[in-house]
Amino acid sequence: MSDELKRGLEGVLVAESELSHVDGEVGKLVYRGYDIEDLARGASYEEVLYLLWHGSLPTREELDAFAANLAAERAVDDDVLETVRTLADAGERPMAALRTATSMLSAYDPDADTDDDDVTETARRQGRRITAKVPTVLAAFERARQGEAPLAPNPDLSYAGNFLYMLTGTEPDAVSEETFDMALTLHADHGLNASTFTAMVIGSTLADVYSGVTGGIGALSGSLHGGANQDVMEVLYEIDDSAKDPVAWVKDARENGRRIPGFGHRVYKVKDPRAKILQEKLRDLSESSGDTKWLDYTTAIEEYLTDEGLLDKGIAPNVDFYSGSVYDSLGIPVDMYTPIFAMSRAGGWIAHMVEYQADNRLIRPRARYTGPESAEIVPIDER
Ligand code: ACO
Repeated sequence: MSDELKRGLEGVLVAESELSHVDGEVGKLVYRGYDIEDLARGASYEEVLYLLWHGSLPTREELDAFAANLAAERAVDDDVLETVRTLADAGERPMAALRTATSMLSAYDPDADTDDDDVTETARRQGRRITAKVPTVLAAFERARQGEAPLAPNPDLSYAGNFLYMLTGTEPDAVSEETFDMALTLHADHGLNASTFTAMVIGSTLADVYSGVTGGIGALSGSLHGGANQDVMEVLYEIDDSAKDPVAWVKDARENGRRIPGFGHRVYKVKDPRAKILQEKLRDLSESSGDTKWLDYTTAIEEYLTDEGLLDKGIAPNVDFYSGSVYDSLGIPVDMYTPIFAMSRAGGWIAHMVEYQADNRLIRPRARYTGPESAEIVPIDER
C-alpha cells in the first residue's frame, strides 16, 4: 500500500469510465467517443442523456419513447412546490433551494424505497424522474421569487424549450431553444470533476440516486466549482454600468492583480471547445435580437488578451466566459446560472452512478493520521 499523499486527489486514477474524456492540450471533449461539437450541433440534450445513460445514441423510436417518458415525469407534487415557495419567501439561495427540493422529491418517488436487484434499472428510473423534475422545481422557484405562480410543464415542448417556457412564461423562439439545448449538452459531463466524484462516492455506498444528485448539487454550489459564469456576467454588468471600455477594464484588472473570470482552466491549456460553440451561439442570439453588446464586450476582451499573449501562456477562454452572456441573452437571472449547470450536470452525475454501481466497489480512501499518539481523558470539570 503506497503512503504517497496526493492532496486533492490530483492526478489519482480512481476508476475506469467510458463516459467522457477531456484532452486539455488540444481542447477536445468527447462523450462516449463523440466529439462535443458534433453532439452539440447534431443531437438534442435528450439524445445526449440517452447516450450517457444507455451507452449509444438512440434510434428514432428509442428517442421518442425516452423523450416521452421524460416529459411525462415533469410534474412535481404540490407539497414540493409549496416548499419551493417557502424557500423563495425565506430568501434561500437558488442552489440551496434546489438541493432541498431535490432531496424532497424522493418522498414522492414510488421507487425510492425499492430494494430492487436491478440496481442499474432502478437508478436509471430514479435518474429519469429527477432529471425531468429539476427544471420544474427551478422554474417554480424563480417564479415564486417574482411573486408568480408556477407554470405547469408543457409535455409538447423539448426539455430545453419547456424549461425556458416555465421560467419566462413565453415559448422560446427556435434560436433560443436550440442555444439552451446546446448549453445543456455542453455542461452534461466533464470527467471526474468534484461534483461528479461526490455523486460517485455516494453511489458507491449503494445509496439511491436522490442522495447522489443532492450531494452533487452541494458540491457544485461551492465557489471553487460552479459559479464562474456568474462572475463573468457581473464583470460585464460592471463594465456596462460604469460605461467603461471593456479593454480599459481588463487593463485595470490586470494591473491590480485581478484574475479575469472566464479565463484559465485546470485541464484546458487552449480555448475550451465549449467556449467556441457558445461564442457562436452568442453571435446568433445577438444577430437575432439586434443587441450585440455582450458579444462586443467579450470579443474585445478576448482579442485584447490574445494580443497580450495570455492565450499563448495557456490561459484561454473557458466555457464560463460565454455561457453567462448567453444565459443573460436568454433572459435568465444571474443567480440561476449555477442551478442550470446543476440541471444539466445531473445527467452526468446519474450516468456515473449507474456506470460505477454496475461494477461497484465502495470508495474508501485513507488519511495519514497526524494527531497525537495517545491522549488521556481528563474529567470534564478538570479541563
Ligand atoms: N486571469 C489572469 N491570470 C490567470 C488567470 C486568469 N483568469 N487564470 C490563471 N492565471 C495565471 C495565474 O495568475 C498564474 O500566473 P503566475 O504563474 O504568474 O502566478 C498562472 O496563470 C497559473 O494559475 P493557476 O491558478 O496555478 O492555474 P490553475 O490551473 O490552478 O487555475 C483556474 C485554474 C482556477 C480556473 C484559474 O485559471 C482561474 O482562477 N480562472 C478564473 C476563474 C474561472 O474562470 N473559473 C472557471 C473555470 S472553468 C469551470 O470551472 C467550468
